[in-house]
Formats: sequence, C-alpha cells, structure tokens
Amino acid sequence: MKFFIDTANLDQIKEAQDFGVLDGVTTNPSLMAKEGITGADNILKHYVAICEAVEGDVSAEVIALDFEGMVKEGEQLAALHHQIVVKIPMIKDGIKALKYFSDRNIKTNCTLIFSAGQALLAAKAGATYVSPFIGRLDDVSTDGIFLISEIREIYDNYAFETEILAASVRHTMHIINCAKIGADVMTAPLDAITGLLKHPLTDIGLKKFLEDYKKGN
Ligand code: G3P
Repeated sequence: MKFFIDTANLDQIKEAQDFGVLDGVTTNPSLMAKEGITGADNILKHYVAICEAVEGDVSAEVIALDFEGMVKEGEQLAALHHQIVVKIPMIKDGIKALKYFSDRNIKTNCTLIFSAGQALLAAKAGATYVSPFIGRLDDVSTDGIFLISEIREIYDNYAFETEILAASVRHTMHIINCAKIGADVMTAPLDAITGLLKHPLTDIGLKKFLEDYKKGN
C-alpha cells in the first residue's frame, strides 16, 4: 500500500519524507487555507514547493465546477510539475474532465467519493485514483471501511486500473483496515502515520533491553 500524507504543511511533508515511507501528497482547498496559503499565485507556488520536497504524486485540486474551467485549471496545474495529479470533484462535468485528462495521459484523482457507484463511474472515465472519504462517512454513522471493500470488489471484478486512494483517514485503525482490504493507497495526517509506530510493549521491551545492557557494562 502506498502512503500519502494529507496536508499542505511543508514542515510535516518534509518530516514524512525524511521518515522514509512517503509515496506522495494530497491537498485540498481546505488544507491550503489551513496553512494560510491564499490567492491563485501563492497556491501554485506552494504546489511547486511541495513537489520539490517529495518524491511521488502530489494531488492539486481544481476549483472550477464546469468542464471548460476544470480543463483550463487542470492543464495549468499539470504544467507546473511532472508530479502533479489533477484532483477533480465527483460531479457530472468532473467525469467529462477525468476522461479528457485520461485521454491525454494526465494523472487524475477523483475526490469526494462517497458511494460505490461514484467510484465505478470515475473508473469508467479513466481516473488514476479515486478518493473515498472514509472518515466523513463514519461521521454520519455509515461504515467508511465497508465502502473501500465494495470498491475493491468492483475494481477487481473488471480489472480496473484506477487505484483506490482511501482519504479522510483519521487514525491508525483506518490505515490498518484499509491495508487488510487492499486499498492501493491511503492518505492520512502525519500523526496517524507515525501512530503506527506505537505499542507499549515495544517501549517496555526496549527499556528492559537497555537496562540489561547497562548491567553487563
Ligand atoms: O483526504 C481528504 C481529507 O483531506 C478530508 O479529511 O478529515 O477533513 O474528512 P477530513
């Protein structure tokens, strides 16, 4: 499973890159705003800075909601850096835009996926990634992890090449359950990724090893 970090925070992106397990980055307009990155020019510059800080795909979201606008913005984003993946919302014109970019070998990430039917449509249109938002489904008492298993089954039935990018991942169990089902990618905040390190028995065991080492020296 590929590990992406879900943030626009450059320090956290660099920390995850140094950690050695990072395969890419996802961003969205809310994450950009959280870092105080506003205005089209600043946002474009920030995407380039992210691409320069990591190896792997960097999702950059279009703001337009119509086909022509998405194509214009997406082409501008894709031209910024070879690592950019154009992130497109799951709406009717978004499906058309996915097909447009797929026909031109430009990578896409279809975002705001909340049903298996949406994921099927995005795959038919040639999306590189689909982003089911599992945490937001859990928020409304719907099993987000179950959606990942439904999409896995559908994509495997027809050998769709679209990768399942589990998004809105909130904690370590989301990551583990996505891995058990076979999500191709998960994107999470840094603390959910580093949370995988933690186990009290590891800490206790390490403490004992060091104490015993000191006894013999
Ligand atoms: O990857 C999508 C993500 O940024 C949304 O996460 O926690 O706002 O639902 P969240």
